[in-house]
Amino acid sequence: MSAAAQQLRLVVLPGDGVGPEVTDAALAVLRSILDRAGIELVAEQHDIGGQAIDSCGEPLPRSTLAACREADAVLLGAVGGPRWDRGPVRPESGLLSLRSGLGVFANLRPVRVWGGAEGLSPIREEVVRGADIMFVRELTGGAYFGRPRGIGGATPSRRGVDTIEYGEAEIRRVAHVAFRIAETRRRRVTSVDKANVLATSALWREVLGEVAKDYPQVELEHFLVDSFSLRVLLEPQRFDVVVTENLMGDILTDEAAALVGTLGMLPSASGGGEGPWLYEPVHGSAPDIAGKGLANPLGAIASAAMLLRLSLGREDLAEAVERSIGAVVRAGSVTADMDGALTTREVTDAVLGELEAGVAA
Ligand code: IPM
Ligand code: MG
Repeated sequence: MSAAAQQLRLVVLPGDGVGPEVTDAALAVLRSILDRAGIELVAEQHDIGGQAIDSCGEPLPRSTLAACREADAVLLGAVGGPRWDRGPVRPESGLLSLRSGLGVFANLRPVRVWGGAEGLSPIREEVVRGADIMFVRELTGGAYFGRPRGIGGATPSRRGVDTIEYGEAEIRRVAHVAFRIAETRRRRVTSVDKANVLATSALWREVLGEVAKDYPQVELEHFLVDSFSLRVLLEPQRFDVVVTENLMGDILTDEAAALVGTLGMLPSASGGGEGPWLYEPVHGSAPDIAGKGLANPLGAIASAAMLLRLSLGREDLAEAVERSIGAVVRAGSVTADMDGALTTREVTDAVLGELEAGVAA
């Protein structure tokens, strides 16, 4: 889609738990800003996750994947919940099939401590102040998709097997994404692996070194995952772009949320395939607070900002949304997970109010 696009065809996948509440919030913000920018928003809703298992017996109906492939962008809420934990199919497998079906191998998860909101982190303010890390998580390989996998045999000698496998090309393409992003930032790539133990990590490290030669302006450093997991909390400001494989990226991005103080604010964008990008907050379906109006909508709204930037090429609109998020955070107009007292709807209205005030200013 070009920068001059006058229409955005969006597929919305609300999913389970708080998913519908937060996608509603993001949609309200998109509607408001696109309307003012003269861009028509054509949004369609489709089933995914547990809710799709209930309505049609599978977590990623074929019609959902087909609609996503036709769209300019996909906005997802969350999947999963205790109701479906016993199987036979898990809602999460729908999300994994969607990621691989769209070929979105690069998952961008910015972890940024907003000025004025340092106090939310349990880590000392002077440590987290100004931290701004872009995680690039490989999303369609590794242990999530490796074969063989499963539980075999009979009690008491059952065995579980998972497989971590990475091809050179899979590593190379996500490495290029990380280096290209670093060129637009502070020009440092930290690659995280377990090269002292895992063969896939040894290959990962080698390929990263090769790709780095194409980016002489960017500095590459390697960290072992155990060491990185400590350092990111002790000295977050030293990191710029962090690239890592699927499972390590899953774990490290939740951990890094401690810098911000809540998972509820973190956005993500996944792309790199031929088709549209997929946008989703990093947080899960939070079944304990679902339907109560307590969910933090800022992760989904910040994901919508990434959509404006990456799928529409509208940096100006993305920044307007991010500025509005910054303003509501500073004003304390936030949900309980951020020590506030507002509902999902009230926080969303506060963001909409800031957007309007920004336009009027
Ligand atoms: C995430 C989630 C998913 C993942 C789950 C829901 C399958 O934790 O997006 O980080 O592990 O990728
Ligand atoms: Mg996760």
